[in-house]
Amino acid sequence: MAIPGNAPQAATLTVAAKQPVAEGVVALTLTHPDGTRLPDWTPGSHIDLVLPTGTTRQYSLCGDRWDAHTYRIAVLREPEGRGGSAYIHDELRPGDRVGISAPRNHFPLAPSEKYLFIAGGIGITPLLPMIHQAELLGLDWQLLYGGRTRASMAFREQLTQSYGDRVHVVPQDESGLLDLDAWLGTPRPGTKVYCCGPAPLLAAVESACAAWPPYSLRVERFTAALQAPPVRDLPFEVELRRTGRTVTVTPEVSVLEAVRRAGADVLSSCEQGTCGTCLTPVLEGRPDHRDSVLADHERAANDCMFLCVSRSRDDRLVLDL
Ligand code: FES
Repeated sequence: MAIPGNAPQAATLTVAAKQPVAEGVVALTLTHPDGTRLPDWTPGSHIDLVLPTGTTRQYSLCGDRWDAHTYRIAVLREPEGRGGSAYIHDELRPGDRVGISAPRNHFPLAPSEKYLFIAGGIGITPLLPMIHQAELLGLDWQLLYGGRTRASMAFREQLTQSYGDRVHVVPQDESGLLDLDAWLGTPRPGTKVYCCGPAPLLAAVESACAAWPPYSLRVERFTAALQAPPVRDLPFEVELRRTGRTVTVTPEVSVLEAVRRAGADVLSSCEQGTCGTCLTPVLEGRPDHRDSVLADHERAANDCMFLCVSRSRDDRLVLDL
């Protein structure tokens, strides 16, 4: 089943190579059929991948950002998934064409003296280009990389061979879970923590970093985070300032749906609050943020919201639409 959405394809690319990079993980190398240069991107970026079946999925770019002609992604087979990863593993072949969106980055690498990268399983993918960048800049960094088994941990050998003891590999079947108390128990001012992995790991890291200085931790989620019930269950109004229309958003519809009905042309992709496509500036009012992208300080600014999932705390919101 395709994820609903209307994000435009930026390009049709060719699957130049498909290689296993761990148990249950394949890497795809994508190039333009004409050899055309691909849009630039920064570490932490992801693209929508539109499969020949029409299914759309989001994947982090994990290759070399300075290679302007190649994108690389890695795909974990998800037995409980909705079929996208199974298609990529079982059907997609080198030479096939796939659509992509322009890269988007909601997990950017902020400047810091030191970094601690924490990966759980396939969560290593957005961290690879970050590590590459930190290394290029000569910064102090370490990677704590957990996975079920060594064999399931993509790019493990490449990382340990390239970076030696900066990389701490923790296969669960040999060493148990990551020792977050040891790594995060004492806040380290000047160190930023970047974490990507399954929800229980993110929750544990968030809890372990609770006493760290503000803005120390940044996480990226694969799936929508569990949210508290909406702040209000009453309808609210949304004014589209540039369009000059006001719509009423009832509890059964999303803001995205309501503003589209009013004629606003808003792009979307995941419609689950994870991809960032429907980000919209807020001019007045306080959104009830229900996405899995924004950090706490970004939520507190109340100057933007993800229309597919977020709602309103107030009777009225004004959007820059
Ligand atoms: Fe993906 Fe809204 S469409 S966050």
